Amino acid sequence: MEPAITLVDISGPAFRYPAVLGKGLVDQVGEYTRKYLRCEVCAVISDSNVAPLFADRVQVSLASAGFRPTLITIPAGEKSKTFEQAGAICEQMIATGLDRQSFVVGLGGGVVGDISGFVAAIYHRGIPHIQIPTTLLAMVDSSIGGKTGVNTRDGKNLIGAVHHPSLVIDDVDVLKTLPRREFNQGFAEIIKHAVIADTKMFAQLKVARASGLRRATKTHALQALIKRNIEIKSKIVAKDESDQSGERALLNFGHTVGHAIERAGGYRKFLHGEALSLGIIAACDVSVKKAGLPQNERDAIIGLLVRFGLPTKLPKKFPRKKIFEAVQLDKKFESGKIRFVVTPRIGVARVANNVTLDDIREAVAQL
Ligand SMILES: NC(=O)c1ccc[n+]([C@@H]2O[C@H](COP(=O)([O-])OP(=O)(O)OC[C@H]3O[C@@H](n4cnc5c(N)ncnc54)[C@H](O)[C@@H]3O)[C@@H](O)[C@H]2O)c1
Ligand SMILES: [Zn+2]
Repeated sequence: MEPAITLVDISGPAFRYPAVLGKGLVDQVGEYTRKYLRCEVCAVISDSNVAPLFADRVQVSLASAGFRPTLITIPAGEKSKTFEQAGAICEQMIATGLDRQSFVVGLGGGVVGDISGFVAAIYHRGIPHIQIPTTLLAMVDSSIGGKTGVNTRDGKNLIGAVHHPSLVIDDVDVLKTLPRREFNQGFAEIIKHAVIADTKMFAQLKVARASGLRRATKTHALQALIKRNIEIKSKIVAKDESDQSGERALLNFGHTVGHAIERAGGYRKFLHGEALSLGIIAACDVSVKKAGLPQNERDAIIGLLVRFGLPTKLPKKFPRKKIFEAVQLDKKFESGKIRFVVTPRIGVARVANNVTLDDIREAVAQL
């Protein structure tokens, strides 16, 4: 059965935009954009891996709907997510004649989504942004919620802006070219969503397989899974857009230790989702100790991470001490207080106020 195109309405007190999900949407970008934007001139920002695969089709589609696109390609990888690169993109947009009436299309993974969104947020003090995420991680996580930004020498995502896209276009077909390791890492965020908010999805994942979900006959299941994850994230964001009430913090489940592992590995050893997998295990161990998470549920969560090819053990020689140092630097330790997200049972999460640095140290030592 050919999955139909589905629309998710993403809305909160201060934003409203649709995510369109389906197959072959790369060739319909112009059509969909026309429904939401009147402007003509746009920059399509992509990276050196994704542009050769899909940028022509996106540009042809935009042009056939009356838009005038210019392609700007940046080198693939996290190292491109810098202020300098954002500045260079802006200069190129100025040189091409983009003005306040223009818009930006981000075609790529989370790196392109974050930097193109940041450029859209600052160019002429803000022009519309369209997200065309091409990694699973970007579809289920980074393209939703409006957080945009760049890294600095001292840390990730330290400079940024909240700038919601006008439209998100998720074409499941583009995931076919995504390397397996990149595909699998997206499941760390999906498993996180299941643990914090959705027991039913957790049960479904227990009988799913990453490889199966990419087969043509199963793309409807993949599409439904992406839709569900967009709904989970956008509902949480809608309740707490500006990260004030603590609701949005729930999305950080597994990230305190996950980010620290990424940093300790120099951002080379583990992909974000892989480090998150280990961070989820640490968060589960803290939850067993401090939030009453039953041992068998902790084991079931780890079982899912294994099922999707995610790491569950640190390499023997990995500098564990560096992880702990990085944990202490994390911005979630606001004014010395730890905001650590725990799960008392699958499907529920809360910010705990009784987690100590020693609890975290102990959980990291066990990894
Ligand atoms: N804004 C947010 O809320 C948010 C949330 C989570 C993560 N992020 C950010 O997202 C970034 C990570 O995103 P990512 O994992 O998508 O990384 P990425 O953008 O670097 O993409 C991963 C790799 O896959 C390649 N690629 C992308 N799509 C492809 C396709 N369809 N076929 C073949 N290759 C393809 C890319 O060129 C890159 O080499 C990080 O910078 C992180 O900080 C942001
Ligand atoms: Zn994450």
